[in-house]
Amino acid sequence: MKKRLIIFYSYSNHTREIAKKIKEKYNYDCIEIKPVEEYSDDYDKVVQTEEKLVPLDYQPDILPIEVDFNNYDEIILCTPVWWYSVASPVNTFIHSYDLKGRVVIPVATNGGYLGRTFENIEKVTGCVIDRPLSLKYDGDILTNPYEFEDWLNNLEEVVE
Ligand SMILES: Cc1cc2nc3c(=O)[nH]c(=O)nc-3n(C[C@H](O)[C@H](O)[C@H](O)COP(=O)(O)O)c2cc1C
Repeated sequence: MKKRLIIFYSYSNHTREIAKKIKEKYNYDCIEIKPVEEYSDDYDKVVQTEEKLVPLDYQPDILPIEVDFNNYDEIILCTPVWWYSVASPVNTFIHSYDLKGRVVIPVATNGGYLGRTFENIEKVTGCVIDRPLSLKYDGDILTNPYEFEDWLNNLEEVVE
């Protein structure tokens, strides 16, 4: 079994649920990315503010993540999509920690517009992307839960 670390950020809990399910199935270590300053509970306000910030490559302060990536074979990075890219706290993470050459499995929950989320993770970190998964939510409902179940079940299978 591969040694994997889940790292996730979640604003409105979709990504948290996904990270939790991955952890429950394989018991991987799991770390949450936490912004120093919490986001407003006002969803629309966050959407509007971030519309301006994401294109500026905004990187809000996050709490330090104390982990030795050398202890893991692969990182499962779970993020919501914000304005066609990773959520801003995840943007801080990928700019702040050295993931060059590491295998990163990106999981992006979104409303159907993934944009350049995976490309940006690869470009910023120089990591090697494997098994990327985009999960579309309609409101709070995962539109295709089987897609997630299949991906999850195949995670420990050897891919030739
Ligand atoms: C600031 C903000 C920007 C968003 N931008 C996008 C987007 O560009 N494309 C998209 O499909 N969904 C977008 N969404 C919807 C979220 O990606 C989606 O609801 C996601 O599953 C939320 O994950 P979370 O509940 O873990 O925070 C955005 C949501 C927020 C709050």
